[in-house]
Amino acid sequence: MKRIKSDLLFQNANRVIPTGIYGHMAPGAGLPLDFPHFCSSGKGARFTDVDGNEWMDFMCGFGAVLHGYRHEAIEQAVQKQRELGSVFNQPHFLMVELAEKLVELIDFADWAVFAKNGSDLTTWAIRVAREKTGREYIIKAKGAYHGVDAWCDPGMGGRISSDREFVLEFEWNNLHQLESLLVNHSNQVAAVILTPYHHASFGPSELPSVGFWKNVEMLCKQHDAALVLDDVRCGWRLDDSGSHNYFGFCPDLAIYSKALGNGYAISACVGKDKFRTSAADVFLTGSCWNDAYAFSAALASLQISRENLVAKSVLEKGKYFCSKLEEVGQEYGIKLKMTGVPSMPYPWIEGDEDLYQIQGLCKFAAAEGLYFHPHHNWFISNALSYEDLDQALFIAKKALGKFVEQ
Ligand SMILES: Cc1ncc(COP(=O)(O)O)c(C=O)c1O
Repeated sequence: MKRIKSDLLFQNANRVIPTGIYGHMAPGAGLPLDFPHFCSSGKGARFTDVDGNEWMDFMCGFGAVLHGYRHEAIEQAVQKQRELGSVFNQPHFLMVELAEKLVELIDFADWAVFAKNGSDLTTWAIRVAREKTGREYIIKAKGAYHGVDAWCDPGMGGRISSDREFVLEFEWNNLHQLESLLVNHSNQVAAVILTPYHHASFGPSELPSVGFWKNVEMLCKQHDAALVLDDVRCGWRLDDSGSHNYFGFCPDLAIYSKALGNGYAISACVGKDKFRTSAADVFLTGSCWNDAYAFSAALASLQISRENLVAKSVLEKGKYFCSKLEEVGQEYGIKLKMTGVPSMPYPWIEGDEDLYQIQGLCKFAAAEGLYFHPHHNWFISNALSYEDLDQALFIAKKALGKFVEQ
């Protein structure tokens, strides 16, 4: 893949932006050298980089796009709103429509609030739980990502020791550890915040073990701690009404972002009535949070999800793709397992702790215009057709062949 403009732009970026590209999109060790630094357009399940290379995409803007890039119905809804405007002195009335829609869709939700990013509302939800309980401690799973704020970010920069003083961690699926933390900090834990399943980077995803969620729910009730579901990444990819339905439990508060606006920046936190007063007491606002473009995109996106059973569709497409890709691995003697849920699988190769083999697969796939990621879960776009999936499998087979032969 040609990468000339991308490299030039990255040089320029380094002059005016610290590290050029920051966060999880930064070029890093183990990423294919063919990966572009900058994109220019996208449509459906494909995007084009600044050098004009077209990519078949398995990352969906790291999850922010579910129905495909520039989905027609969503773009039309936003275009209609563009004729009216986005940010005003007062919220646009679409904010109420969207809150009503979420309350209707999500069985336990009695109210909803909106922001721009997942981090805005994971942090806010923690504060709501603290306000409600008058307690300080938060429990999370080790290695889980909940955003960029100091209580949970994966970096070390700019942190002070007190940032994590009241954050406790347990190993995913280890109910005994969770219970011990709750018992040892009796009447001090405000919330347990968890993702629907464990999807850390650089390692296989872990599903909840049998009974995990029911027990977490019970322990939170027993200890009067709020159960906060961070559905930022999984939301609308496991179930069209919230991922708690996929695993069969009921949280107190849940946060959504990524797929909610299909690429338009929006996040939502929904909650039970008993948290309404505390929610009102924790200050919440942002410069462009009352963004009617994003409200209209989210309303259109939710409608598409509902009408087309999109969560079921991406799960089925993912299942088809993952099982075939595992077979391709077997053909070459590579023990590839697509872990997690099929709509957002994490590829893990047995014995590949240094990620050398998965990097090889991604490198050779990238040379053919297939965008697989070596150390983050992938996302199945609903714009991928079964034909696309077969094409991707064909390329993946070729890529693995080249890797094995090298
Ligand atoms: C599970 C989870 N929680 C929270 C966040 C933070 O969301 P944002 O990047 O929109 O702030 C992310 C982002 O990747 C996430 O995957």
